[in-house]
Amino acid sequence: MNRVDYLRISLIDRCNFRCQYCMPEGTDLQYVLQQNLLTQDELLTLVQDVFIPVGFTRFRLTGGEPLIRPDVVDIVRAIASLPQTQDLSMTTNAFLLAGKAQALYDAGLRRINISLDSLDPETFNTIIGQRGRSRWQQVWDGIQTAHRIGFNPLKLNVVVIPGVNDHEVLELAALSRDRDWHIRFIEFMPIGNGDLFANKGWIDSETIRQQIKQRWGLTEAHVKGNGPADVFKIPGAKGTLGFISQMSECFCDRCNRMRLSADGWLRPCLLNEIGQLDLRTALRSQASLADLRSQVSDLLLLKPEINYKQRASGTLGSYDRTMSQIGG
Ligand code: GTP
Ligand code: 5AD
Ligand code: SF4
Repeated sequence: MNRVDYLRISLIDRCNFRCQYCMPEGTDLQYVLQQNLLTQDELLTLVQDVFIPVGFTRFRLTGGEPLIRPDVVDIVRAIASLPQTQDLSMTTNAFLLAGKAQALYDAGLRRINISLDSLDPETFNTIIGQRGRSRWQQVWDGIQTAHRIGFNPLKLNVVVIPGVNDHEVLELAALSRDRDWHIRFIEFMPIGNGDLFANKGWIDSETIRQQIKQRWGLTEAHVKGNGPADVFKIPGAKGTLGFISQMSECFCDRCNRMRLSADGWLRPCLLNEIGQLDLRTALRSQASLADLRSQVSDLLLLKPEINYKQRASGTLGSYDRTMSQIGG
């Protein structure tokens, strides 16, 4: 059975992009009110006095877009400096990364996963829902800066959408040949923009893997990570290729994580709300930390059953929340 020791912490549900597959322009998202966001102190209390004592040792900061949170560097420094923290990472769209990468590194962050769905500035802008000047170059500069500073592993996430960016698979995969970068192809899920999903459909990892294999060949490989990616390598390449196949191959039964939303809900599963705990309200109503630890421990005991139930219902379906609300 998997040990559940990986917590994905959403720092904020807002984002400076409007990705088509996540929170496209025009969707009526109810953002968390400022006063309902976990404060830095509350977040650190939860990490230090609740999550670490019950066994969590690996943390990922997500959003929305975590870099728009003004105290992101302080949060990184505090979590990275805890002796029990075995791994701290971040998932970002990299738009603000060039200016913050050095401070994040100095604060103790060592690895970052970045969304990069296209190498073409126009397609990129279409995907992220941006009109006018393309944001691609600024994101690319962020990636290059992180690379120069020494973030390692550096992973790039590509959500493959038929008719939108699937023609770029080989070009994106080729980035891993002469750079120590890890490109991950993610199956598009019906979470967030259900209409786009219904309209475009999704492509399975195996199809993409075969395309790459026919061009260059592929061998199995490994890269540091806590996620569900199956990892391969183009022979002789510096980096790797990962495939995240939650649609074609449900991995719920080997799930090792829980999620903390920006407003303090602890969710044991991305795809359902069974057992979720409102830790912010508990904290603010003076619940004792011992009581919170015991509630989270109980939820950990329930987790295998939740994984099993989710596996039985599968990852296909439609979810009314976006990754940005749950915490990517
Ligand atoms: P590392 O392996 O530790 O580098 O991270 P990761 O792959 O867990 O993190 P990342 O934020 O880059 O996640 C990549 C993608 O995997 C997400 O955007 C989701 O599409 C998918 N994913 C991550 N966690 C889950 C999960 O619990 N369930 C499902 N169905 N998909 C997930
Ligand atoms: N399907 C698959 N991945 C998604 N992400 C957001 N929405 C979806 C979706 N519908 C992923 C993006 C990004 C991370 C924050 O969440 O790849 O890397
Ligand atoms: Fe923002 Fe990430 Fe959602 Fe894109 S996928 S809108 S970058 S949270």
